[in-house]
Amino acid sequence: MARFTLPRDLYHGKGALEALKTFKGKKAIVCVGGGSMKKFGFLDKTVNYLKEAGMEVELFEGIEPDPSVETVMKGADAMLKFQPDWIIAIGGGSPIDAAKAMWIKYEYPDTTFEDMCKVFGIPELRKKARFCAISSTSGTATEVTAFSIITDYQKGIKYPIADFEITPDVAIVDPELAETMPQKLVAHTGMDAITHAVEAYVSTAHCDYTDPLALHAIKMIKNDLVGSYNGDMAKRDSMHNAQCLAGMAFSNALLGIVHSMAHKTGAVFADKGAHIIHGAANAMYLPKVIAFNAKDPEAKKRYGEIADFIGLGGNNDDEKVKLLIDFLRKMNDDLKIPHCIKNYGADSYPCEQGFVPEETFLERLHDIAVNAIGDACTGSNPRQPSVEEMEKLLKCCYYDTEVDF
Ligand SMILES: NC(=O)c1ccc[n+]([C@@H]2O[C@H](COP(=O)([O-])OP(=O)(O)OC[C@H]3O[C@@H](n4cnc5c(N)ncnc54)[C@H](O)[C@@H]3O)[C@@H](O)[C@H]2O)c1
Ligand SMILES: [Zn+2]
Repeated sequence: MARFTLPRDLYHGKGALEALKTFKGKKAIVCVGGGSMKKFGFLDKTVNYLKEAGMEVELFEGIEPDPSVETVMKGADAMLKFQPDWIIAIGGGSPIDAAKAMWIKYEYPDTTFEDMCKVFGIPELRKKARFCAISSTSGTATEVTAFSIITDYQKGIKYPIADFEITPDVAIVDPELAETMPQKLVAHTGMDAITHAVEAYVSTAHCDYTDPLALHAIKMIKNDLVGSYNGDMAKRDSMHNAQCLAGMAFSNALLGIVHSMAHKTGAVFADKGAHIIHGAANAMYLPKVIAFNAKDPEAKKRYGEIADFIGLGGNNDDEKVKLLIDFLRKMNDDLKIPHCIKNYGADSYPCEQGFVPEETFLERLHDIAVNAIGDACTGSNPRQPSVEEMEKLLKCCYYDTEVDF
């Protein structure tokens, strides 16, 4: 038996934010990040619509990018004091993910962060509150997913919380919110979205319900991401839907080792000034992982199907896999994202010698490889790497060398 879970309601299209006016409840806490939603007026609109719906509203502001365990605990305290029956999270993946984890702690105050990280181990929620997610970036699709990513900064590791219990009740996918994204954010979140769709399509947990969502998302992202990056607002709007479709696919089909590696490299070089942004990490690792996974015959066939669906050409699966890798690398070039960690500079712009020195990378390589294999996303990857293979793969991602194993 398999399960396919999505929010019960999804409001999309321009003006979808107004759906908040129809919500029924007494008290809503609005969880938000550092200021972009306030600056562009979306926070005020959210609060006003909820008040129009007759609710008392409180704000929990200042959730940082890549939210910490500490922020989650602080937010849960605020919820315990206010006792909301709606949790409304607005912004990018960071505030929405943080609010999901706060929700667990609010419903079960004795839960520790370690308890939350037990995959599919969350007790039944919705005894105190329901959850609405309003996304302002076009990538994580956390508004429809069963995941939340929280960073333990003491360990330098990102932990995924995974359970259909935290799939939001309502998702609002209003493209107006995404139109204010700066160019680099468009690039990062867009490459995150295509990675979700590609990993979901080849995942060992993919099924007839997830495949069409993944393929259609990949086709839309191929058509729209670079244009959106270059300022085409119709394409920007379309990307907001595309990333959400990719999210519906991967929330139910799970992901693979691109995400395992991104989770375990994102914060581990923070002491060198290198915070490897999630979408940029995925963009650099995806072509390498495709080459590695394509040694598995079933995965190779499925990469070939992706190449066919988006019209890349190629006479056999080997050629199709190569064309898919070339296409993704070209996308990185178009979005000014480097191909490897060595060249990863400020804001993810490519440069000769990036933040992460070779010796630091090599010193930490073994631990990163072990942690990546232990990540919750590794189990559904089509090919299971050994620690040695993971180390080799990570080296290819550092130096941009060919994956031939
Ligand atoms: N839950 C999931 O399923 C899932 C999937 C992939 C990634 N993630 C996680 O999500 C996080 C990344 O989320 P993200 O990429 O959406 O970015 P983010 O939420 O971290 O936001 C990045 C920055 O962009 C700003 N911003 C957000 N929306 C904006 C807008 N419309 N206009 C202008 N500025 C805006 C924010 O204020 C912030 O400074 C990471 O922690 C990642 O690990 C979660
Ligand atoms: Zn992701």
